[in-house]
Amino acid sequence: MIKRAIAAAFLLLCAPPFAAPQVAARDIYFDVPYVATPPAVVAAMLKLVKAGPNDVVYDLGSGDGRIVIAAARDFKVKKGMGIDLDPDLVTLAGKNAKAAGVADRVSFTRGDIFKMDFKEATILTLYLLPDVNVTLRPRILDLAPGTRVVSHAFNMGDWVPDGADNVDMRRVYMWIVPAKVQGVWTANVNNVPYRLELTQHYQNADGKVKVGAKETSFEMGIVKSDEFTFTAAGPLTFEGKVAGNTMTGILTAGGKRTPLTLTREAS
Ligand SMILES: C[S@@+](CC[C@H](N)C(=O)[O-])C[C@H]1O[C@@H](n2cnc3c(N)ncnc32)[C@H](O)[C@@H]1O
Repeated sequence: MIKRAIAAAFLLLCAPPFAAPQVAARDIYFDVPYVATPPAVVAAMLKLVKAGPNDVVYDLGSGDGRIVIAAARDFKVKKGMGIDLDPDLVTLAGKNAKAAGVADRVSFTRGDIFKMDFKEATILTLYLLPDVNVTLRPRILDLAPGTRVVSHAFNMGDWVPDGADNVDMRRVYMWIVPAKVQGVWTANVNNVPYRLELTQHYQNADGKVKVGAKETSFEMGIVKSDEFTFTAAGPLTFEGKVAGNTMTGILTAGGKRTPLTLTREAS
């Protein structure tokens, strides 16, 4: 109870005061108390992640359903799903969706965000707490590359946001899930061996590129969704696309372009 009161105070301190509907909670432990995101902030969040008709939006801890409902009503997303532990809020969200005329595209379910599957999301919306975001982070990083994540008020630890906005004195953050590029990737073209050794830090990767016997180190390779690019001394550049354990791209060295299909070695 004390932890919950502290968390509520923290949420309120980190955002200016606003009217929060009071819904009686039963004897349930909530990782985050119910505090609603104001409509202008909801709109800014959905704008920041460029929500649109091809998107499936999941709100983790969906409260009265306002984010998912706005995504369907105002941004025309094809599907919205809200997950909340509070059964009264799940019922209220369902009623609100009906009243907004979007009940055919959105649904709300009672569940624990730490146990429920949200792999289907192309956009994930959060108004949780910093430690809850960080606990969810490994599962978020396992989502399909290119999935957008937007959080009201709280960041994601050392995962630097790809975008941010301020609205009505509140901060919203946005991330794009990067492809996983960590590891050793190899290819052979016309009997010349190519080797990439990458260490990934979210959207960045540094490492070594070896062409034949010549090895060059580089820093600040960039992973944006499923695309990976880097520049090394030489100059040598690479632009590629990652699909699981295969990376296809073009390596340009001394003006010569070599198409590569690299395979990740089992770790
Ligand atoms: C700060 S409110 C955000 C509500 C809504 N997303 C919004 O922005 O207006 C957090 C919500 O998370 C829910 N919640 C807390 N712990 C949860 C858990 N483990 N699983 C699912 N929902 C949870 C609470 O009931 C509450 O509705």
